[in-house]
Amino acid sequence: MAKHAPIIAPSMLSADFANLQRDTEMINESAADWLHVDIMDGVFVPNISFGLPVVRAMAQHAQKPLDVHLMIVQPEKYLSAFRDAGAAHIIVHYEACTHLHRTLQQIQQLGMKAGVALNPHTPIQVLEDIIFETDIVCLMSVNPGFGGQAFIPQTIEKIKKLKHLIVESETSCLITIDGGVSLQNARTLLQAGANVLVAGSSVFNAPDPVQTIYQLKHLYNH
Ligand code: DX5
Ligand code: ZN
Repeated sequence: MAKHAPIIAPSMLSADFANLQRDTEMINESAADWLHVDIMDGVFVPNISFGLPVVRAMAQHAQKPLDVHLMIVQPEKYLSAFRDAGAAHIIVHYEACTHLHRTLQQIQQLGMKAGVALNPHTPIQVLEDIIFETDIVCLMSVNPGFGGQAFIPQTIEKIKKLKHLIVESETSCLITIDGGVSLQNARTLLQAGANVLVAGSSVFNAPDPVQTIYQLKHLYNH
């Protein structure tokens, strides 16, 4: 079991877009640590979510860091724009970056934490030579593009492999799990080595989202 309470990052993709201020303020009042913000371009993934003006609007009300997950091609073009819109972290996809090392360094030079996301089919080994430049690794536990999909069980083995790589390389990078995370599987994810839980539909579709966030945050106590 994780020694520390996990970082909880509700995914705003499952918020009510007609009530973004209300839902952002709900996160402010909850035990959540970050707001996870999913940007989709209809090219890298088969869906379009929202863009810079909406991120700026969320940032106006958010009292917690915006963890911005770019599911877009050529993310390097938009790093400073997302920083200016209020991003505290930028997660780019390994599969979308030809010059990943440069892109991660640029994110850090802009004053943000830099993360890499891996699609379900991408092996952990591709991180061996980049783990030292990475603050966060986000393992996709669904195929990116939509909320509300079923968790891919193979992710558990990937978490263990990634944890091993981080320990071996003596880095302090965080392991985020994104997709299909719920109160049912969160404990197993933490036991395998996850540090950050992104949860969209399991939080926003819950009868009491604040209570669900609290339960995710305090699972390790029970
Ligand atoms: C999927 C996104 C996720 C999504 C998770 O492409 O990256 O962040 O919002 O949603 P749930 O938790 O519903 O699987
Ligand atoms: Zn995401």
